Amino acid sequence: MKNTILSFLLLLGTLSSYGQNTATLTVPAKPDRIISRHIYGHFAEHLGRCIYGGFYVGENNNKIPNKDGVRLDVVDALKKLKIPNLRWPGGCFADTYHWKDGIGPKDKRPTIVNTWWGGVTENNSFGTHDFLNMCELLGTEPYLAGNMATGGVQELADWVQYTNFAGVSPMSKLRRENGRDKPWNVKYWGIGNEAWGCGGNMTPEYYANEYRKYATFVSDWTNSSGIFRIASGANSADYNWTEAIMRIVPKNLIEGMALHHYSVIKWDKKGPSTTFNEQQYFSTMKSALFMEELIQKHSAIMDKYDPEKKVALVVDEWGGWYDVEPGTNPGFLYQQNTMRDAMIAGSTLNIFNNHSDRVRMANLAQAINVLQAVILTDEEKMLLTPTYHVMEMYNVHQDATYLPLTVKSTDYTLGNEKLTAVNGSASKDKNGLTHVSLVNIDPKKKQEVSINIEGANYKSVSGRILSSKNLQDHNTFAKPNLITPTAFKGAKLKGNTLNVEIPPFSVVVLEMK
Ligand code: AHR
Repeated sequence: MKNTILSFLLLLGTLSSYGQNTATLTVPAKPDRIISRHIYGHFAEHLGRCIYGGFYVGENNNKIPNKDGVRLDVVDALKKLKIPNLRWPGGCFADTYHWKDGIGPKDKRPTIVNTWWGGVTENNSFGTHDFLNMCELLGTEPYLAGNMATGGVQELADWVQYTNFAGVSPMSKLRRENGRDKPWNVKYWGIGNEAWGCGGNMTPEYYANEYRKYATFVSDWTNSSGIFRIASGANSADYNWTEAIMRIVPKNLIEGMALHHYSVIKWDKKGPSTTFNEQQYFSTMKSALFMEELIQKHSAIMDKYDPEKKVALVVDEWGGWYDVEPGTNPGFLYQQNTMRDAMIAGSTLNIFNNHSDRVRMANLAQAINVLQAVILTDEEKMLLTPTYHVMEMYNVHQDATYLPLTVKSTDYTLGNEKLTAVNGSASKDKNGLTHVSLVNIDPKKKQEVSINIEGANYKSVSGRILSSKNLQDHNTFAKPNLITPTAFKGAKLKGNTLNVEIPPFSVVVLEMK
């Protein structure tokens, strides 16, 4: 009897350490949606060591290999991610930035104070030419965030003319005098940043009217490939903001509506980046998964004013935000990056892919040494974070055809609260390969997912996985390769059913043909 009870308890234990999930993957005969590669964009602000020490180490640095001061190890790593666009120079910094401070001979550029980020000296040695030439080196499209709060319409219009005009004009003349003949043809322009906060504490109605004025002069006359203007968007669930902008701004003046949402536990109690407990993990994931509701609700408002979905929802700041690493400047926002961040990245990108009819651009905050970075540097050392590896695994979705994947997930529970354990998305690339990305956020339970495939007959499946022993694991300069993707053997195809076993807190990307 004792043995029977013991076996029963053991069986129960085994069963409860598995989650059983079902899903359907549909391959439509006539697919009608592309997942824009611009969803996989990045963000580089003059903040902490993102630009200085991160991207840029100066032309005279002979310890760190560089091209015109830009680190070549970073260029190489970001090229592998295929980063489609890079937002610059902020963030909050953008609304204090006067672009003319950052052109011309470097020793003549004014030194200013970075009032938002640590009150440090900004010598403007990395300016417009440095950034736009770096984008060419990276093979990425620049996204310039214009200063609305402390600049002016003329200043922004001049920047557009300086970067984009091929003919003869005062600004193109100045550009040529500074050594660049051909315009860069910058397409993506932000008009202000967080206008509800650091960008001027405006009301949405005031901002919308100002936007109309600025957007009129950030226009297409210079650029044959078309200007894409992005309005400063809502702070997370501020639906009133999106409503007002969509109502007040005419559709011929706006191509993108921004949204910022950080995965944060509480703004006054963010918790550590590596030594977090399960409750803190759960709360972070709850905030990350809230992106689904945010996109649904902001999109519904946009649908009301723009049923044809001409205006893109641009989530141009997202990611995990924790306490800074002990002993570092609180104004520099330097944090480590663990498997928790891999869970945020994988889940958020799945949400974006699944809403790619409206979400057509996004920017992870930020690329190097700031918040949920893909790269950390320490002088000449560089490491790739778990978030980097998720971004690299997911780049198969860039510009691929969206395939609907609906997952009926079990719950990841903690106390009385629950979250969906498994999320996913799918696409088919130009070469006919189908990719399915799946995330199991449950830190304890392995998940089995049985995917019913409709509309295609695949012959083989292979894959890669990002996982580790502990949720708190992270790459360090001493052990930079503790977490890297490995081959995944947990997927089996049987006719039209794909069975996948995903270990706890793992990200899997499958390829089928
Ligand atoms: O990414 C860090 C900061 O967060 C940005 O400067 C600002 O836009 C946001 O509040």
